[in-house]
Amino acid sequence: MRARLAPLRKPLSAAGVRVPGDKSISHRALLFAALAEGESRIAGLAPGGDVRSTARVLAQLGVPLLRGDGTPWVAKPRSLEFPEDDEPTFVPPGRPKGSAPLPERDADMGPDDAIVAGQGLRGLRAPLGDLDCGNSGTTLRLLTGILAGAGFEARLTGDPSLSRRPMERVAAPLREMGAVVESTDGRPPVVVRRGHPVRAARIKSPVASAQVKSAVLLAGLFAEGETTFTEPARSRDHTERMLRMMGGEVVARENTVAVRGPARLQAVAVDVPGDLSSAAFLLAAALIAPQGSTLQIEHVGVNPTRAGFLDALAMFGAKLKLEFSGRPSAEPVGRLSVTAQRLRGAQLDADLVLRAIDEVPILAVLGAFAEGETVIRGAAELRVKESDRLAQMALGLRAMGARVEELPDGLRISGTGGKLPGGAQIDAALDHRIALAFSVAALAAERPSSISGAEWADVSFPGFFRLLRRLGAEVEIFP
Ligand code: S3P
Repeated sequence: MRARLAPLRKPLSAAGVRVPGDKSISHRALLFAALAEGESRIAGLAPGGDVRSTARVLAQLGVPLLRGDGTPWVAKPRSLEFPEDDEPTFVPPGRPKGSAPLPERDADMGPDDAIVAGQGLRGLRAPLGDLDCGNSGTTLRLLTGILAGAGFEARLTGDPSLSRRPMERVAAPLREMGAVVESTDGRPPVVVRRGHPVRAARIKSPVASAQVKSAVLLAGLFAEGETTFTEPARSRDHTERMLRMMGGEVVARENTVAVRGPARLQAVAVDVPGDLSSAAFLLAAALIAPQGSTLQIEHVGVNPTRAGFLDALAMFGAKLKLEFSGRPSAEPVGRLSVTAQRLRGAQLDADLVLRAIDEVPILAVLGAFAEGETVIRGAAELRVKESDRLAQMALGLRAMGARVEELPDGLRISGTGGKLPGGAQIDAALDHRIALAFSVAALAAERPSSISGAEWADVSFPGFFRLLRRLGAEVEIFP
């Protein structure tokens, strides 16, 4: 599928905008609720493909999970933007024999809400087949940690993008805990063998990663005693916050987190905030849109361990307003407002990059529109995301007419001061954030650009192109 986006001719102006629920928090809410005792209610789950992968896999593990559309797994929803992409032949995954019945449907449930009847730490059942995690690294890595403790054999697979991503960073520490975890040349499929109970351990990770940390802490829930995880810098802490909310014993000091097992988690009610990583694309679009543009986004998660994007905007000289609107479920939430403004080049280092790890593609776009040079360093991790994001950003920005040097761990971008020629054909490279970043760039360039593989946007931001049209953009979709 291809999207053609024309430059915005008029200022955009919108208030009360909402973005999809936070993907990181949504995965965790489903996974942790599955391990808890009692019925958890989750409101505002991320509607994209990644969180659907987590829900589907949990259904395969026998977790009584009911999503707002009345199914335990949620088939690919009818897509308004990409109707040809529908899956009329979708086969629901089988639930293992003897799985507990699904919860009662609640008339108040919206399409992005879910009820999970947690069966306790030992309540998962051996799946009937492979657990297909789709495009979602978070699903595969966090589940590997859970399965290391669960006591049955399972095989985790993914799509072609996920099948290229490194898994030893998770498998190796779980082996230190006594689990038998096999990867395939360091990548998926990943097999977790039965009969090797996990032991508490002190894990030191060479990479700062919330996915690795979460996998170890989840395995630690099953082990007797204290498991600690130390990383070179502190990654996002959604896992720690949610486990505490569920009664887990979690202590964090500097770059070390400790969890005590065996744990008993209590069911919770979670109100998932909007995803800052999705909001970032709209905020960036408004910043580089025609003068006079304004945008206000409500109910966005602004957890400081991953709100580096907001600090980066300040470094670009952008003024942004953040009004806190409470802490509905252990995570700070606020309203974000921006207006179109001139940006100056910025130096973004490893510390900031870790807290804005998924926003680097859109920050690179802002760099191309800013005045002066933008240098992004300490971002080598981007090479092992859904695509090699440093390579894809360099390639795409050059195609749009920017001068970009690709560094081993970053990008050096010569800003155009707002005049990017555009007129490019960009390939999303199986990567939602590449599709989204270049769609925003296209809106502010001088000539229309096309994004092939635009449907990848659905992984984290279904409805993105529809929303852009609502904001006044000219977007055409071609099969
Ligand atoms: C995530 C952690 C980050 C991030 C990903 C989501 C999470 O990955 O890039 O999109 O939910 O834990 P890493 O842990 O690999 O840095």
